[in-house]
Amino acid sequence: MKPSREIRNDFLKFFEERGHRIVPSAPVIPHGDPTLLFTNAGMNQFKDVFLGEGKRDYTRAADTQKCIRVSGKHNDLEEVGRDTYHHTFFEMLGNWSFGDYYKREAIQWAWELLTGVWKLPKERLWATVFTTDDEAHALWQEVTDIDPSHILRFGEKENFWEMGDTGPCGPCSEIHMDLTPEGNAPADLVNADDPRVIEIWNLVFIQNNRTNQGDLEPLPAKHVDTGMGFERICAALKCMENEFKIPPSNYDTDVFTPLISTLRDITGKPYKDGNDQVAMRVISDHVRALTFAIADGAIPSNEGRGYVLRRILRRAARFGRNLEMRDPFIYRLVDVLVVTMGDVFPEIKEQQSHIERVIKSEEEGFNATLDRGLEIFTEIIEKMKTSGENTIPGDDVFKLYDTYGFPVDLTALLARERGFTIDEQGFERLMTEQRERSRDVKKSAGDDSRPAITIESSILKPEQFTFTGYGNFESSARVILADNNLLVLAESPFYAEAGGQIGDTGEIQINGKTYRVIDTQKKNNVSIHILDEPAEITPGTEVTARIDKKRRVDIQRNHSATHIVHEALRQILGTHVQQQGSLVAPDRLRFDFPHFSKISAEELRDIEQMVNEKIKESIPVEDAILPYDEARKIPNVKMFFGEKYGDEVRIVIIDEKFSVEFCGGTHVPRTDDIGLFKIIHESSIASGVRRIEALTGEGIKRYIHEKIQEAEQTEENITKKFEEISSLQEELSKYTEEKQQQLTRPSLGAIDTSIADSITEANLHRIEELVRERKSIDDELTQAARDLRKQITKHKSRSAIQNIDSYLEQAISLNGFKLLTLQLEVDSMDELKSFGDSLRAKIGSGVGVIGTVINDKVQLLCVVTDDLIQERKLQAGKIVGEVAKLVGGGGGGRPHLATAGGREPEKLSDALKEVRRIVGSMLE
Ligand code: ALA
Repeated sequence: MKPSREIRNDFLKFFEERGHRIVPSAPVIPHGDPTLLFTNAGMNQFKDVFLGEGKRDYTRAADTQKCIRVSGKHNDLEEVGRDTYHHTFFEMLGNWSFGDYYKREAIQWAWELLTGVWKLPKERLWATVFTTDDEAHALWQEVTDIDPSHILRFGEKENFWEMGDTGPCGPCSEIHMDLTPEGNAPADLVNADDPRVIEIWNLVFIQNNRTNQGDLEPLPAKHVDTGMGFERICAALKCMENEFKIPPSNYDTDVFTPLISTLRDITGKPYKDGNDQVAMRVISDHVRALTFAIADGAIPSNEGRGYVLRRILRRAARFGRNLEMRDPFIYRLVDVLVVTMGDVFPEIKEQQSHIERVIKSEEEGFNATLDRGLEIFTEIIEKMKTSGENTIPGDDVFKLYDTYGFPVDLTALLARERGFTIDEQGFERLMTEQRERSRDVKKSAGDDSRPAITIESSILKPEQFTFTGYGNFESSARVILADNNLLVLAESPFYAEAGGQIGDTGEIQINGKTYRVIDTQKKNNVSIHILDEPAEITPGTEVTARIDKKRRVDIQRNHSATHIVHEALRQILGTHVQQQGSLVAPDRLRFDFPHFSKISAEELRDIEQMVNEKIKESIPVEDAILPYDEARKIPNVKMFFGEKYGDEVRIVIIDEKFSVEFCGGTHVPRTDDIGLFKIIHESSIASGVRRIEALTGEGIKRYIHEKIQEAEQTEENITKKFEEISSLQEELSKYTEEKQQQLTRPSLGAIDTSIADSITEANLHRIEELVRERKSIDDELTQAARDLRKQITKHKSRSAIQNIDSYLEQAISLNGFKLLTLQLEVDSMDELKSFGDSLRAKIGSGVGVIGTVINDKVQLLCVVTDDLIQERKLQAGKIVGEVAKLVGGGGGGRPHLATAGGREPEKLSDALKEVRRIVGSMLE
């Protein structure tokens, strides 16, 4: 069979020879197109060219484009695995003309490649055209030798192609292939969703734009946009090689066979008809979507694009259960893709270990609840069978979602497999309620420090407002609006919270009175100054607005540092690092990003070092306003998914080779104004999301002072521990001589508090070292104290057994037998029991109850001699059980020896005092 990579190359070569520029696939995550969750067609990356908004330095292009169709207008998810030719992820081979050739060449070349190069039998090909497209209809007859009865007309649904709700579109002409054994499929199998006649190529004649209002408007030029399903053409060619005797399946081509055969090895199951085959198809399809999406920067999550990935993964994991796979295994298929496709798409090779980690961790997370969820699902179905219901109620669907992580489409799939449906509306209603609840919780829990902006958006006019704070800390300005303690000015240096940078504070002088601005927030792109008290001002009044400069400068240090650390993280941890959230405050910065392991101390050091080097280089921090389309093409520019950008955007540049980022925030003039950068904390905030917290400037000064305090505090601890140890040592001097010698007390030496005021890396490191050193002394001493205490206890318990006779002297006599109650210090239950055994042997006729505290828990032991068990019906288990109740616990055991535990050590001695009464009551 012709290898698929040759088929891909044939296509590209064919169009290269016809003057097409071979371009790389765009990422499967569209950058900067909020109308799309995933790249769904080859033309996406040329949308701007079609709309007449962008240009390339070529007018013909060809490529293989990575596509995902699981959401929006093009969604094939339901079909995947059930048939053999729909996929969540696929490659689309495409050729384009940007105002260059049109229908004639598009049709002619398609025909030539299919029948001339690949030698597909002409009589098996069908062409469709849009109902009214006489031109295309005529061209098919003119420039090809297709059987004229194989040219069919179809309506808008089949033959008018649109990329989404809006965007470039136009009539299209599709090529379908008859794959029946005899090659005699009737016309009505075309466009009938039948695997015997499949669409292989779509030629779109782009000439319109679908606007937001849903209207079609003509485009300035006419273009060609084609798309051929790579996996399908591979299957068709293979089917031809088999002389059409074996039904075609994309999964039988070498695009999928390495995945399927690895799956067979992993699961130990054959790939043959039936459910197992569907499961293997689904998994091998889904792992491709996951791999490519993660390689391009997506990450499973609970929202948007991330949730689509999570759904795909969970669907695959559930089909894995059908193959009896309980442990993570999907991630093991990534390597197969890297080996077979890594040369064509190097990003999957570069990101392999990241992709594997992400998938594995998601699998682990879902596996934990999958079995229980499936059980619940079965219960629901059983219940419905009895009641004769057909539709699974929204409540149940929601419970599966909320408690067991079943995406609604997974539940729908499970339901359908058993002939049931789900109440999707009911589910959605519960989802909405939940969202509202969590919003309410957030409101009442967190942000009450921030007053709500009560001004209506509609009266805030962005065009009347200018932000002057990039260069100024003070401006005089006219009042536009005053509402209670909210103030809007025509221009203002106050930065309103956005993009992680928190709002400015400062003061505003109004008619000689000074008001404090406690926060600045944005609404409808207008800054709202929040004053500390209501102000009665008439619009038009001139005021002076002055921000807290020192605070702002600190914020700027942290903001510029955030840009630098973002790039440093990418260089050190990998290009999967993207900002998921950030906080830029005066005293610290915080940065959240996807990453699947703890960042090692060494990596943290490297990151810190790279940032500090960039700081020392004193790089100017520049900004520029550019048309969006130009800005987004800057190599390695950082922009944010899902963010809506206007026609013009501001970018911040810290050495164009190092960091260029879409950003509206304020920055230091040069990197060395940041001073120094220090990471103080690294943590995980959600599965696969890490957070680092760091300091600059003033924040570091404060940090050093805190460290000094910490050192002093530790010093105090050390002194206390020395005292404790020496008293322990006295108590058991024979164990301590050795330790005494080991622990010669090192001296702290003076920390010169003044060094905190001169911040250099060296000073900072010295303080940190000191603190570390003191901490380790502290730890060592804690351990020494613990050891000593253990030895003392051991000694005591040993001597307890040795001294059992002297304890027995303390026994009282009760109704003719001995009762001994004791509180001992022992090290383990074993010691307690061996003491109990000795006691029982020596007591003659009697009852012993011993209490001790081990690891903050009460342990009780009771022994009863045989004669008392028989003659007085006393039982150790019952006695100890009663005592245990008094110390917050319980337990029991055999009549002659029983133990129990309790959680309240402070009640032990009182409880032991009750033993006499308890035993007495049992005698009656
Ligand atoms: N853009 C066209 C499609 O996706 C070629 O079918």
